[in-house]
This record gives sequence, structure tokens and C-alpha cells, in this order.
Amino acid sequence: MIKAVDLRKAYRILNHGPTVLITSAHAGKQNVMAAAWNMPLDFDSPKIAIVIDKNTYTRELIEVSGNFAINVPCRGQAKMVLEVGSSSGRELLGKSPDNKFANFNIATFSASKVSAKLVKGCVAWLECKIISEQHIQNTYDLFLAEVVAAYADSRVFSDGHWHFEGHDDLRTIHHIAGGNFMVIGQAFKI
Ligand SMILES: Cc1cc2nc3c(=O)[nH]c(=O)nc-3n(C[C@H](O)[C@H](O)[C@H](O)COP(=O)(O)O)c2cc1C
Repeated sequence: MIKAVDLRKAYRILNHGPTVLITSAHAGKQNVMAAAWNMPLDFDSPKIAIVIDKNTYTRELIEVSGNFAINVPCRGQAKMVLEVGSSSGRELLGKSPDNKFANFNIATFSASKVSAKLVKGCVAWLECKIISEQHIQNTYDLFLAEVVAAYADSRVFSDGHWHFEGHDDLRTIHHIAGGNFMVIGQAFKI
């Protein structure tokens, strides 16, 4: 039953954590992109790690602002996640509309501690300040950040636990590759 996996596809074995949206803003410019390569790093003080490719417009904005927000989208937002993950905000500069939020009709609200906006309709949000680690940023596109504020939709996350039962459209989504997603499954307790 055990078969070798092509090493070029090995990342897909871990590639079913939640796909998130990274929002960013600086000097009147704002942007949003999809990011599947993210993970918690510490709980006290809370820190996360996330891969943000150097060719992205997001990278340009977060490197100058020093902050970003992680928005956790749900099943009902999957199409939009793919759209913002398959286009660059850089291409919209100088055009009308000049940002992805307007282009893809994405409503936002203000964050409490960072300049990046938060995406409405998501099920959780982490406001993050970058912990500057130039070597890993430049070599691996890996950013470490401290979580300075966190919010969640209490219909599906409360008392530190996810509970999606009865809210199928709010289940988090998990990108494998090429537009193939899974939704989070059933909870169980030992
Ligand atoms: C589902 C999905 C997951 C993605 N995950 C990542 C990721 O973890 N890190 C990354 O740098 N790019 C990731 N991307 C690609 C970026 O979202 C994409 O390059 C985007 O166009 C960048 O937008 P920007 O230039 O407006 O910042 C992902 C794309 C999709 C569709």
C-alpha cells in the first residue's frame, strides 16, 4: 500500500492547511493575495510563518509597511480566493479600478492595529507585524510575524475551538494545487 511520491509533488502532502488571504496596505495603496503556505510558529507571544513570493505586489507593500493581515476565507469565497491568487495588484496600477478589492468586489473593514484592511465574510483574521529576518526572507521568501490582534466569527470559532457543524458554507478551504480545494472535515475528540 505504501508508494513513493514524486518529490516535486511532496509539498502537496502538507498542502491542506487553510488557504488564507494576505491583505496589505501602504501609502494609499492596498492589496490582497491568496497564500496556502502558512503555519503557526509560537503561541506566547503568538507568531506565524508565511511564504510570500518576491515577485508579488503584496511583498512590495508589506516590506515597506512592516505589517499585513491574514484573513481566513470560507467555502463561499473560494472563487474569489482563486481570482486574487491568479492576478497581481501590480497589473491594476494606473488603471480603473486600481486595486483588487474594487476589481473583484471585495468588501473590507478596518483592522485595529495594522494598516492592512480585513476582508468581510472571512471566518477569522490575524493582524500581523513582521519580525524582520532578512536572510530567510531573501533566501526562502519566508516571513515571520507577530500576531498583534486576532478575531473570529463566533458562529464557527469560539473558546479556542472551530465548530463548523451546521455552517457548511463557512468551512475553511484547503488548496492542493491547480484550483483543487478541499473543505475542512468533521471534528472528533479522543
Ligand atoms: C490557492 C492559492 C494559494 C497560493 N499560495 C501562495 C503562497 O502561499 N505564497 C505565495 O507567495 N503565493 C501564493 N499564491 C500565489 C499568489 O496568490 C499570486 O502570486 C498572486 O497573484 C500575488 O498577487 P499580488 O501580486 O497582487 O500580491 C497562491 C495562489 C493561489 C491561487
